Amino acid sequence: MSRCRYVEPLWTTKKTASLLLLLLLLLLSETATSADSDENRITRWTCTPTDLCLVDSSPSASRMQDQQRFESQRDCRLSCGKYGSIWPMPTGDCSLSHDRVHFDPWKVRFNVVAPSEATTQFLRETNRHFVSNLLKECTRNCTLEPSKEVLVKATVTTNTLQLDWHTDESYMLVVRTTATATFVDIKAATVYGARHAFETLSNLVAGSESHGLLLVSGARVHDRPQYPHRGILLDTSRNYMPLRYIRSTLDGMAASKMNVLHWHVVDTHSFPLEITRVPEMQRFGAYGPTQIYSRADTVNLIKYARLRGIRILIEIDGPSHAGNGWQWGPAAGLGNMSVCLNNKPWRNFCVQPPCGQLNPVNDHMYAIYKEIMEDLAEVGAPEETLHVGGDEVYLPCWNNTEEITRRMRETGYDLSKKSFLKLWSQFHQRNLEAWDDINQRLYPNIVEPKPMIVWSSLLTDPDYIEEYLPKERFIIQTWVGKDDKLNRDLAKLNYRLIISTKDAWYLDHGFWGSTKYYNWLKAYNNPMPQGTRPGQVLGGEACMWSEYVDQNSVEARIWPRAGAAAERLWSNPKTSALLAQQRFFRYRDRLIARGIHPDAVIPRWCVLNEGQCL
Ligand SMILES: *[C@@H]1O[C@H](CO)[C@@H](O)[C@H](O)[C@H]1NC(C)=O
Ligand SMILES: *[C@@H]1O[C@H](CO)[C@@H](O)[C@H](O)[C@H]1NC(C)=O
Ligand SMILES: *[C@@H]1O[C@H](CO)[C@@H](O)[C@H](O)[C@H]1NC(C)=O
Repeated sequence: MSRCRYVEPLWTTKKTASLLLLLLLLLLSETATSADSDENRITRWTCTPTDLCLVDSSPSASRMQDQQRFESQRDCRLSCGKYGSIWPMPTGDCSLSHDRVHFDPWKVRFNVVAPSEATTQFLRETNRHFVSNLLKECTRNCTLEPSKEVLVKATVTTNTLQLDWHTDESYMLVVRTTATATFVDIKAATVYGARHAFETLSNLVAGSESHGLLLVSGARVHDRPQYPHRGILLDTSRNYMPLRYIRSTLDGMAASKMNVLHWHVVDTHSFPLEITRVPEMQRFGAYGPTQIYSRADTVNLIKYARLRGIRILIEIDGPSHAGNGWQWGPAAGLGNMSVCLNNKPWRNFCVQPPCGQLNPVNDHMYAIYKEIMEDLAEVGAPEETLHVGGDEVYLPCWNNTEEITRRMRETGYDLSKKSFLKLWSQFHQRNLEAWDDINQRLYPNIVEPKPMIVWSSLLTDPDYIEEYLPKERFIIQTWVGKDDKLNRDLAKLNYRLIISTKDAWYLDHGFWGSTKYYNWLKAYNNPMPQGTRPGQVLGGEACMWSEYVDQNSVEARIWPRAGAAAERLWSNPKTSALLAQQRFFRYRDRLIARGIHPDAVIPRWCVLNEGQCL
């Protein structure tokens, strides 16, 4: 599937290399405390034929002449192994030179060629993020006098800013160095592809031991993702997360080329999201007046995400997992919009306290749900859709609610499971019609009606899903175990799928009940199910449910494990996690440099002594 080879540094003459070395020596002699510029100290590291970066302590006389040497492990890692430090692994051609350019990040110059003002602006912003990420790689003083010139040209050929499952995220990145300068050439169809190219370019850079940064002096990378949906689910209902933790999640995702933040913003527990048409939702549903997301917050978050190539897909879970926020109906003359709300003992009415399930026979509930959708349609991009939850409906709740069973009998339903499934599917069908109506009004130019996403549930049983959820309108996000046949069965029925493997990508597991923790190797070695036609498996999401996590630990719970899922979804590698580990450790260090707090995954000694802890 992917091919990657080393290139001989054709474009770097021996003369430039020795000049560079001289420069290095000069710089070191300026700053190093033990001022004797010992060549052994500067270039001690070598990349072995088995792709390990090791310190070579043999005296210089006995060294092999043509063995390339590096000043640090970080430097060595840039081109050791098929993919150097690029995370996730590129899927196309990839070649990296062993030579380096020593440069000053302040002096990188950008040239943007894009067909519209908006795409040009986007890329200028991308350039700013890129430089700011580079500065974080500096180990010492970033300033380098004199610096090699680095000229970056980014060309984007289409003016679309649309970001969905059809977006072309491919890119081509070429780095070449001449006697006078280093030229970086980025080509992509969309700004999102170009943005990914800048991420890859940042993976070709490491801090120098002296001033400035090192860049792989020659590279050629052709790349595009295997799956168009590479996400993280973040739950902010069970425990509220301040905005900066959502932004930090987006930063980590951008670094990992993930493109969907599935924002599980509300649930039965709390409704922190401001709906301007229905302020009661937040007033009755938020944990407190500061534990909220205003409409402006949401708008800004969506903007922040898109500049990092990420969609925010909002979930308004229903008909179950909905309660607090919906309790004001009776006082407002709208009846019970949610039933079994906070009922006790909870085990009789739901799968997890507090209980609550929307009332599918109350028209006012549908009207309010529509107002919520209309608010979200306004803040989201025209092409964006909604996740409407739909899992874990607890039938005994509805079956124990007099209003519901009475209405069912009146309309000729019995109280069988089948009747309840029908009632449940009508909930989704009715909301879908409302969603279509909203979108036709707001975005009349969008020709194809947008699908909705639902979780796998009793309703998505392959034996009868076709009766309830039309496959051209509903995408199913499955959350079954690796060995479950649900994905295969739904694929056979031609449903589009998003995969959240419960026993690999549920990041909350290992912290409650008898669930097990899945380390990054397990998250990485999670095979994606096959579709029956191309494009049917849209991708997947690692899920950060927040019952047992809040801002105090969320970064370490998500990272770096979600990065393993990111490589699975971008590259779908045939090789196992063990072959990726040095690259993965470097990726984790990069997250740290960017201000994220990923969990430790191995003792530092094993990172420093490659190959010794297998
Ligand atoms: C970094 O180095 C430059 C040039 O050597 C010097 O002018 C500058 O003051 C240094 N900055 C810091 C923060 O040390
Ligand atoms: C609404 O729920 C409350 C509490 O469960 C119940 O007492 C009341 O009868 C319900 N109202 C209707 C109209 O069913
Ligand atoms: C609902 O309750 C009735 C009796 O109260 C029972 O006969 C029926 O089986 C229940 N339905 C389901 C789906 O459990």
